Amino acid sequence: MEDSPSTSQWKNRTGLWLQQLEVPKNLEDLSDLKEILRFHEKAYYVRNIPLISDAEYDLLFNLLKKAEQENPEWVTPDSPTQRVGNSLNEGFVTVSHLVPMLSLENSYDAADLNDWDRKVRELGKTSSVEYCVEPKFDGASISVIYENDRLVRSATRGDGVEGDDITMNSRQIKNLPLYAPFSKWGIQTIEIRGEVLMTKNAFNTFNAHLIEKGLQVLANPRNAAAGTLRMKDPAEVGRRKLEAFLYHVSEVLIFPETTQNSPETLPMPETHFAMLQMLWEAGLRSPVAEAKTFQNIEGVIDWCSQFEAGRDDLPYEIDGMVVKVNPLTLHERLGMTTHHPRWAIAYKFKARQATTRLRLVEFQVGRTGAVTPVAKLDPVSIGGVTVSSISIHNEEYIREKDLMLGDTVTIERAGDVIPQIVRTLPELRDGSQNPIVFPKECPVCESVLFKEEGEAVWRCVNVECKAQVVEKMVHFVSKDALDIKSFGEQQVKKFYDLNLLKDIPGIYQIDYDQLKGLEGFGKKSIDNLQTAIEASKKQPLHRLIYGLGIRHVGETTAKALAQRIEHLLDLKDLTVEQLMEIEDIGPKVATSIAAFFSNEQNLEMLHHLENLGLNLLREKSEKTADGLLTGRTFLFTGTLTEFKRSDAEAMVEKAGGQILGGVSSKLNYLVVGSDAGSKLEKARKIPTIRILTEQEFLNVIAYDQEN
Ligand code: IVH
Repeated sequence: MEDSPSTSQWKNRTGLWLQQLEVPKNLEDLSDLKEILRFHEKAYYVRNIPLISDAEYDLLFNLLKKAEQENPEWVTPDSPTQRVGNSLNEGFVTVSHLVPMLSLENSYDAADLNDWDRKVRELGKTSSVEYCVEPKFDGASISVIYENDRLVRSATRGDGVEGDDITMNSRQIKNLPLYAPFSKWGIQTIEIRGEVLMTKNAFNTFNAHLIEKGLQVLANPRNAAAGTLRMKDPAEVGRRKLEAFLYHVSEVLIFPETTQNSPETLPMPETHFAMLQMLWEAGLRSPVAEAKTFQNIEGVIDWCSQFEAGRDDLPYEIDGMVVKVNPLTLHERLGMTTHHPRWAIAYKFKARQATTRLRLVEFQVGRTGAVTPVAKLDPVSIGGVTVSSISIHNEEYIREKDLMLGDTVTIERAGDVIPQIVRTLPELRDGSQNPIVFPKECPVCESVLFKEEGEAVWRCVNVECKAQVVEKMVHFVSKDALDIKSFGEQQVKKFYDLNLLKDIPGIYQIDYDQLKGLEGFGKKSIDNLQTAIEASKKQPLHRLIYGLGIRHVGETTAKALAQRIEHLLDLKDLTVEQLMEIEDIGPKVATSIAAFFSNEQNLEMLHHLENLGLNLLREKSEKTADGLLTGRTFLFTGTLTEFKRSDAEAMVEKAGGQILGGVSSKLNYLVVGSDAGSKLEKARKIPTIRILTEQEFLNVIAYDQEN
């Protein structure tokens, strides 16, 4: 990032161009203008602190464009006019990696690895080589740059030479610290490669959420991670819970020698493993715990197959292992081809596929009335998991895949997580196959199904349909909504069938005496249920809004709505146009909200809930700012000398961060003053918590307030 000339000089130079508004007449002026435009692009995209308006940027940009049109020989590939999607309002800025991001050579079996080992020893002129083996993470590769201990840029791989600048989005990745003290090693600038992943859990939760909304599920966690990194809304990126694993340092620029020779400066690592340790110690999630070193290739081969056997137990997806030469001096000697380094090789795992018979299709009705076809298969084991049923999404999907009842189908756990049908094998049809007929009526209540124009999903629109009523209640009590513990799908269904519960307000009118004697309901569990139901009345408003199950209203929208109003019923007074003024709410969502709040039955239910003691008021804390620290949590402990605790807490909240009450795995940063006690001790035991001194905290926060 340009720190020199200082921001004020940039402002002055920009001011001159804006005053004169003259097309550059010579190469010197042209390069000055290009530099200024690049500076403002970075201010906008990298720091997210624009110093000029979009209109002013456009004026300057057009001057450059005009000069280049008049003098085509002046156009250089690095000109701001040559970027892909260079408009400030769309796409991402293209940035160059400090060092091109190469790919890896692949190997598939022991013989391939033995060949590679032979070549390494030959080229490295050594009889034995120490190897370091680590997982090959199956995500989206990124490169990040820390400068003066701060995360200043993140980019996608792109074509390996240039990628998209995704700094803002990467700041939402909780385990990618904004501050990492590389200066301890005398490092001023460091470029690091890694992989951004969505864990299996986060991916499943996310897909379940898409299914619920009647949307197309994502094929695998890799696509989910790559897609999320390219989203326009960093806050949404934050909610999708990505994680970053950093495994390779591609470039290091050290401070001038004075610092490097200081006795406090830590030595630079000499092996790949020590480099992973350095990254870990700087606070990055490197695969140091997963990596293992071996003195020969036999050990490597054995470890690779052991790891492959255990891949299903990992919380994230891997598609192989990466074997790296451990001593870094040998990396230099071995060098690279134009495609890949010679000091590393990927060992690819075999794809997980299986073949089975599609026996029948069941149609399930969800909370919003969406009817989803689910294929029932002859049970088959795939990647250690028995698969016997697979969602086949909708009518269109069935047609596209040409599926028939009785077909032999190849299935795969896409991204090795969610099973899906890859293809049918029509050549194996024997005449006993039958077409899959989509019902015209709801399989639960038999009312006629409808399909909206432009939608792929058929819906049951009978609000009293048992499936919908039950699923609505299940959603209402679920973890992200009112979070009524010990009240899950089974209990809701049971209570409904026993006539103990018929709608959402009924949850707060359960006759606990009637539960006595019910199978599985002892005194303790009845007491627990009652306590949980009572506690849910005090949940923050956004949870209640989300719990109502209004179509297209997910957690994000619910939070945005809760911030806009004082009382839930205020929503009935907002027009579609007013609703659309709220961030991220488009016409479809706004219309759905307005429809919900103009329905008398719904309003009656809300009044009823309020009378039953539910909280319909917004709490003060629901107003949160959006900023650099959105989604990050802080806690201060010990005696603070640099600033007042209340001021610091206010700074965090202003930048979108949140203050927590205690140390837990939810905490991202613990800022410690002097004489810190038990909180610090506890935080030290949780590796994901970054412990900051007061000065380090100021570094983090200063970045947000610089301009
Ligand atoms: S090292 C200069 N290590 O696999 C070499 N790559 O198929 C840098 N990948 O482009 C790569 N896990 O995106 C390395 N532990 C790991 C990896 C890894 C996943 C990705 C990376 C690379 C691709 C090659």
